[in-house]
Amino acid sequence: MALDKRPARVAAMFDAIAARYDLLNHLLSAGIDRHWRTVAIRSLRLTGRERVVDVCAGTGDVALAAVSAAPGAARVVGVDFSAEMLRLGGAKVRARGEGGRVLLVHGDATRLPLPDASMDAATAAFGIRNVERPELALAEMRRVLKPGGRLAILEFSIPASPLVRAVYLPYFRHVLPRVGRLVSGHGSAYTYLPVSVGSFIAPEAMLDHLRACGFRQASARPLSWGIVTLYTAEA
Ligand SMILES: C[S@@+](CC[C@H](N)C(=O)[O-])C[C@H]1O[C@@H](n2cnc3c(N)ncnc32)[C@H](O)[C@@H]1O
Repeated sequence: MALDKRPARVAAMFDAIAARYDLLNHLLSAGIDRHWRTVAIRSLRLTGRERVVDVCAGTGDVALAAVSAAPGAARVVGVDFSAEMLRLGGAKVRARGEGGRVLLVHGDATRLPLPDASMDAATAAFGIRNVERPELALAEMRRVLKPGGRLAILEFSIPASPLVRAVYLPYFRHVLPRVGRLVSGHGSAYTYLPVSVGSFIAPEAMLDHLRACGFRQASARPLSWGIVTLYTAEA
């Protein structure tokens, strides 16, 4: 499967699966996705006063996790280019009574609609892999962070352990796309997922990009046996 990461194509794919996105996230990860977001938010060491930008915000789950953590973020701006993901996310934010603290806006990760050095922390969960030129999105997160601002990025990865791979990869490459297709009704989005993870840059290359963008103390921490990697760094 050839990967087409042109923005219009990726946005259209997320528009098409938005209605079933949350359900499939929780179903296909057996609910562990909530834990991954919690660990990412915890790594920001929030005090209750921070302004956070959540890049590739989707339906707002990271933003909601950030404001509901204790202590959590004071305000979160979520940026995404899928109108449908944002529409559903906005409804969820309002239903949770967080409309005053979470703002979801339409925008591209490679051109964040925010001033330089205006944010205390930046997050991106399962989105950076979809960006055509991820290094531009990393540079944008660096630009909008204040000096010392913290970064947390979650992305799927391929586990290093042969044993874990033997169990996980057949599920990830064969079962997940079938369940995804069945539940979402979309022909290719859940085939794109394992293919895009398999072809995404390795954790070491991601760390190199972060350092090249000016981030300090960049580190990669495998979560759930390396199914997911949490990248953290400081501006
Ligand atoms: C897999 S979803 C992740 C959503 C959310 N962060 C979560 O944890 O569930 C990826 C999101 O990234 C968005 N996205 C991908 N590339 C983007 C870009 N260049 N600019 C803005 N949003 C982008 C998609 O529209 C989609 O909503």
